[in-house]
Amino acid sequence: MTKTMKIGIAGLGNVGTGLVSRLQEQEKLRFNGRIEITGISARNRSRARPVEIDQYEWFDDPVALAKSEETEVFVELIGGSDGPAKLAVEAALKLGKPVVTANKALIAEYGESLAALAEETQTPLLFEAAVAGGIPVVRAVRESFSGTEIKSIRGILNGTCNFLLTEMATTGRDYGDVLSDAQRLGYAEADPFLDVSGTDAAHKIAILSSLGFGVPMDFSKVAIDGVDTISLRDLQLAGKFEHKIKLIAEAVMTDHGVICRVEPVLLPKTSPLAQIDGPLNAVMIESVHAGNYTLTGPGAGSGPTASAVLGDLSALLSDQVKPVFGVGVEKLDQPFCATDKISAAESKYLIRVELQDKAGALASLTEKLAGSDVSVEALLQDSAGDSEYAPIAIMTHECSYAAAEEAIRRINSLEAVVDSARLIRIESS
Ligand SMILES: NC(=O)c1ccc[n+]([C@@H]2O[C@H](COP(=O)([O-])OP(=O)(O)OC[C@H]3O[C@@H](n4cnc5c(N)ncnc54)[C@H](OP(=O)(O)O)[C@@H]3O)[C@@H](O)[C@H]2O)c1
Repeated sequence: MTKTMKIGIAGLGNVGTGLVSRLQEQEKLRFNGRIEITGISARNRSRARPVEIDQYEWFDDPVALAKSEETEVFVELIGGSDGPAKLAVEAALKLGKPVVTANKALIAEYGESLAALAEETQTPLLFEAAVAGGIPVVRAVRESFSGTEIKSIRGILNGTCNFLLTEMATTGRDYGDVLSDAQRLGYAEADPFLDVSGTDAAHKIAILSSLGFGVPMDFSKVAIDGVDTISLRDLQLAGKFEHKIKLIAEAVMTDHGVICRVEPVLLPKTSPLAQIDGPLNAVMIESVHAGNYTLTGPGAGSGPTASAVLGDLSALLSDQVKPVFGVGVEKLDQPFCATDKISAAESKYLIRVELQDKAGALASLTEKLAGSDVSVEALLQDSAGDSEYAPIAIMTHECSYAAAEEAIRRINSLEAVVDSARLIRIESS
């Protein structure tokens, strides 16, 4: 007999209406059963939607939808780490109703307590759509790679930032100009803060860290730097060194624990992640026994994200569900790397600074570098036309972050500095 699963959907925006539309033609999908939408909820009942919804029972309150007797599985597509999304997910889990969500903020900030609740009531909580949209990386890390040790997970996890960096580098337009374009094209929200500050990518890498390394779900442990301080000049200087700047989210297992961070990084133009342009996402998984893998695809948008939600619903239909983070929450006990150990790790850096174009300025700069134990691999003095300022880019040899930061502090104390020096890490691949 065909199994029918009754679902309630809270949130009828980009993803929610995409999901409803796909379920309305589910005969095209390869489900081991049928999914029936029994109830829906959104904020504004009279808002026009791109799908027909009059046939479903309407709930003003998503918690009431989660608790409704008709709702067997609750799908949360509202967003936000607190407020109605959290209340409704908790209500469903307490009643033992499986939850599917696309909400990375909720999982990154409350994943551990929600997982504990899910385990208490032995209820599935699935969130494939929360990381990298349509790329099936959550299931890959939680299930397919559970038989191998993972060394690192690195990727481009925010399409908005990647679009901004790509457009700036290829068109030579500045940040504000390109951001307005991204908002017009629907790649960036009216309030782009979560994306451009790196917070969105940090939510995603926090989730992958717990899945891949068994560290506790602790968002505060992610070091975050966004693209909002990257200038066109930075991208141009990186280009002159045959590099590109990308916002890289990474979780790396070290001898001192797991490093989890999001920051703009210089990558050689030929490296795989440097090839990922525009709004695309990519995730590279480096493993001890099974080699390295790169998954690429659209990391957002109604179609890809709804597909990931449908994949989770399909798993529920087939009863193929593992613990929320692959193992019980009590086993999320691996340490994070201490900050001083991260600072001591060696890397190359790009130092960008603008100096007054006057005699002795460059010599005093290199003096400050030497005084901080930072040696120069390459130095580029860009022409700024008729300006009396000279943008300088320095590629350092490997040095600790602490030494590079000290160099920045000393350089910024120079009288000839016009615009504060900036530090960007360089990776070799
Ligand atoms: N968009 C993407 O490409 C994408 C990709 C990956 C993950 N996600 C995640 O998917 C989730 C949904 O994103 P989205 O882009 O679809 O958002 P959205 O377009 O802003 O839609 C949000 C929906 O939630 C409803 N809502 C807001 N407050 C509510 C409340 N108090 N009670 C009931 N409903 C409420 C809104 O109702 P009204 O329509 O009546 O205003 C709207 O239908 C978020 O967690 C997001 O992070 C999105």
